[in-house]
Amino acid sequence: MTLWIPGPTEVRPSILAQLARPPIGHRSAQMKELHLRIDGPLALAFGLAPDSSSQVAVHSASGTAMMEAALLGVGPKILSLVNGAFSKRFAAVAESIGKKVLRLEVPMGQVVDPSDVARALEEEGPFDALTVVASETSTGTATPLGPLAEVLKNHPGVSFLVDVVSMIAAGPIDFDTHRLDFALAGVQKALALPPGIAVMCCSEKYLAAARQRSRPSWYLDPVRIIEGHAAQKTPATPAVPHYFALAQQLEDITNGVTLPAGHEPCEGPAAWAARYAEHSRMRARTAAWAEGHGLSLLPAPQHAAPAVACVQAGELDVAALVAGLGQAGYSISNGYGDLKGKTFRIGHMGDHTLQELEELLAAADKVIAQP
Ligand SMILES: Cc1ncc(COP(=O)(O)O)c(C=O)c1O
Repeated sequence: MTLWIPGPTEVRPSILAQLARPPIGHRSAQMKELHLRIDGPLALAFGLAPDSSSQVAVHSASGTAMMEAALLGVGPKILSLVNGAFSKRFAAVAESIGKKVLRLEVPMGQVVDPSDVARALEEEGPFDALTVVASETSTGTATPLGPLAEVLKNHPGVSFLVDVVSMIAAGPIDFDTHRLDFALAGVQKALALPPGIAVMCCSEKYLAAARQRSRPSWYLDPVRIIEGHAAQKTPATPAVPHYFALAQQLEDITNGVTLPAGHEPCEGPAAWAARYAEHSRMRARTAAWAEGHGLSLLPAPQHAAPAVACVQAGELDVAALVAGLGQAGYSISNGYGDLKGKTFRIGHMGDHTLQELEELLAAADKVIAQP
């Protein structure tokens, strides 16, 4: 069965092979080397310039755990933009650790208007942090970070905390340009790795402020995680096989090993940009295919996420489509929560190619054509 669900996604055999390497001591020179192999290309994934003062890190935990870690480093009052299941979760995680949360909520598939964010910050503040999910995997909806960064220029005391779980490696994050303070992600989406570890990036400003705060957690203390990573010493025993896989995949992307078919050889930021362009082409192709069936994506075209298409099903029997594709060896997902039966989701992410997407869509055509 080939995974076209909105993550986890397919992992290349050469990356899976990294998981079978013999264990190494996590206080060894080899482990330090592994950290160093990861840091450079991971900085490219977050869009950091070579002289950036922001820091990347890895932790053996899931994306949700890192929401909690990010929130532990900020003050008590949080403004949460909610437009789907994971942005709702970000707000719930904040409340679970005692934060006071104001939700700015719009229907699933829509994006909170930055002018409403500006109004809330002015009228309901002061806030300590803003939480945003850059790509809502539940609805295939991308929230542009640039306009929010503009709004936050007038509120320097508000930390910008961003979930990039289904955005990283599918589209640019521009962490420094957008003045993010903390970005977090699992690795099982467009990074095309097995689930089990999380990656993050934090600003110098976030780290300095977090050091001054009480952070009531040991394992999820963001300062311990970031400083431990910077010193190439994880606070606790890490999931070392996953670090091997992460290092290999980041190097392969950066060195141009995973470039789209026919792309001229390149490496570094250009190779990452080529990956983003392939995700954009897969998004455009899926939207065009849906249109060919009289269907459309749930979000407005300018807010369609690069790695997840959420298609409004109209009269189409979603359960039959999912089951029929399953029989043909392809796994896609029904709609999330209330959208079950009304939408279906295709995760065109990671190392999937446009050519492979054509095969999936041709199989979907056959299922749909069946009487
Ligand atoms: C946007 C987004 N945020 C958070 C999560 C939660 O990540 P995890 O399941 O790794 O905790 C997911 C999982 O699908 C997600 O898509």
